[in-house]
Amino acid sequence: MHPAHLIHQAAELIIQADSLVIAAGAGMGVDSGLPDFRGSEGFWKAYPALGQEAIPFYEIANPAAFRRRPLQAWGFYGHRLALYREIRPHAGFDLLRQWGASKPHGLSVYTSNVDGHFQQAGLETALIHECHGSIHYLQCLLPCRDSIWQADQFMPEVDEVNCQLINTAPVCPHCGGMARPNILMFDDADWNSQRQQQQAERQSNWLSKVKLPLVIEIGAGTAVPSVRNFSQRMQAHFGCRLLRINLREPQVQYAQDVGLAMGALEALSAIQAVLQQEQ
Ligand SMILES: NC(=O)c1ccc[n+]([C@@H]2O[C@H](COP(=O)([O-])OP(=O)(O)OC[C@H]3O[C@@H](n4cnc5c(N)ncnc54)[C@H](O)[C@@H]3O)[C@@H](O)[C@H]2O)c1
Ligand SMILES: [Zn+2]
Repeated sequence: MHPAHLIHQAAELIIQADSLVIAAGAGMGVDSGLPDFRGSEGFWKAYPALGQEAIPFYEIANPAAFRRRPLQAWGFYGHRLALYREIRPHAGFDLLRQWGASKPHGLSVYTSNVDGHFQQAGLETALIHECHGSIHYLQCLLPCRDSIWQADQFMPEVDEVNCQLINTAPVCPHCGGMARPNILMFDDADWNSQRQQQQAERQSNWLSKVKLPLVIEIGAGTAVPSVRNFSQRMQAHFGCRLLRINLREPQVQYAQDVGLAMGALEALSAIQAVLQQEQ
């Protein structure tokens, strides 16, 4: 168990802030029952069919894979879409929502997760920035034009053993060609970033009003460092503190910051217990 004084220090940082900036990577979803993709080993454990062919994450998370092996690429993304729809975000999401509600400026989220779980957990949609897009939206694979639409109509059926889509892949309503997730993949010049740009704009408006945010970074890895870089930018801009919750990589740079080597749900619940005592 982690030293109790770090939990108290974390609670103190939350109390002092006028707003919360949540920066979340795949580790945030692990306690809901979602896989992170840490290393090929972790990825292949979640997708054994891709392991058998030794296909790493970056080779399937790739627009070229949708062209070369569409049923396999949609097997992977279709499985994830169904999984993210089905699984409920853990209680830690709601704790963050409550903490934000108690702050004069509230809370905003920056996440590389494409699972839509912050929205599903009831956090304010207008203040969520999904920097790599969302699996719940689609765009044309070509793309024939700048258009993004919801994936709601698409109910993927996947042969999980072979990682293959069994039913028909979603199509572009404009040209009838194949659709793909509106997610920033590897080697992806075709990603339609319009939705993400609008989110970024709303977030930066919100940031222009806050003075003393606390960055709570949860489950963000170092292999694709988008979320970590964001935390760093926030600290450079505001001179603010960082609370890093990360099971395996909790180290922080500054002595006033707090790093907790714990799972997201356990850490957030422990902090909540301290906050309740102090009320
Ligand atoms: N849920 C999703 O939407 C999802 C899931 C996997 C990957 N991705 C995509 O893949 C890329 C992966 O990058 P990443 O850095 O987010 O993930 P990553 O898998 O590289 O790293 C996960 C991090 O979370 C930590 N972690 C693992 N379990 C944890 C737990 N229970 N509590 C707290 N921390 C925990 C690990 O130590 C690690 O640092 C991103 O670009 C993202 O878009 C998305
Ligand atoms: Zn099209």
